Amino acid sequence: MEVIEGRFEGRTIVVTGAGSGIGRATAARIAAEGGRVIAVDISGERLEALAADLGPAVECVTGDLCDDAVIEDVMAAAGDRIDGLANVAGIMDGFEPTAEISDATWDRVLAVNVTSMMKLTRAVIGRMLPAGAGSIVNVGSEAGQRGSAAGTPYTTSKHAVNGFTQSTAFFYTPKGIRCNAVAPGPVATNIEAPFRSEWAGQRLGPFFQTNLPPVAQPEQLAAAITWLLSDDASNVSGAILSVDGGWAAV
Ligand SMILES: NC(=O)c1ccc[n+]([C@@H]2O[C@H](COP(=O)([O-])OP(=O)(O)OC[C@H]3O[C@@H](n4cnc5c(N)ncnc54)[C@H](O)[C@@H]3O)[C@@H](O)[C@H]2O)c1
Repeated sequence: MEVIEGRFEGRTIVVTGAGSGIGRATAARIAAEGGRVIAVDISGERLEALAADLGPAVECVTGDLCDDAVIEDVMAAAGDRIDGLANVAGIMDGFEPTAEISDATWDRVLAVNVTSMMKLTRAVIGRMLPAGAGSIVNVGSEAGQRGSAAGTPYTTSKHAVNGFTQSTAFFYTPKGIRCNAVAPGPVATNIEAPFRSEWAGQRLGPFFQTNLPPVAQPEQLAAAITWLLSDDASNVSGAILSVDGGWAAV
């Protein structure tokens, strides 16, 4: 992917899940293009490695985004001006169909993928409104477009990401704040997705064998996310952009 020199010069962008995979690639691309990155992750070890790689362009906030105090830490690190937010942090389920969902899995997947995204976005929009400008990009999934890509908790959470994205875009685009989502197919990252259901294996197996596109690299997702964050996407808001090697067209 070609770096666009200075595209994020003078801008502060918050990136969650920045320690690994898609978030890490997004943070690296923004830093390479002159931006200041507030990198958030639950893994301090991963953030240390990121900071060692990217240098002073990155300020790290370690903690669980489900903890309200961590949202406050992010806001304190970012300061008064926030130009962009990439909500990338997320977790998978264990491919559980509805009858096999544990309360713990449901609560955690929804808390990380939906509720923490809402709380951080709510806080960030509070900073963007006085400036009358800002761009928010949420990471959904191909599982947000169909029922045959994950378990029910994850599928539910990623459909919610789409609704959150479009509702936020509806309310705030007139105030200069754009909100979009990308919907990846399979990407080579550290995300854990253990099959915990025999029935899901039987039911999903044939779909995965015939429909899955090739696994993408995180940098391919970062390219789409940074485009949506940038002024090049100034007329794009409320979009759910499939970045999935054509899977959505199957
Ligand atoms: N990898 C794929 O195939 C794929 C496909 C579709 C969508 N996605 C989505 O892409 C996003 C990024 O995932 P990835 O594949 O890069 O995974 P990843 O596991 O490599 O990276 C996610 C990062 O988020 C962090 N994180 C998780 N929960 C957190 C929390 N509560 N607080 C703070 N940080 C937290 C993790 O520590 C990790 O470093 C997720 O939203 C995921 O649902 C991934």
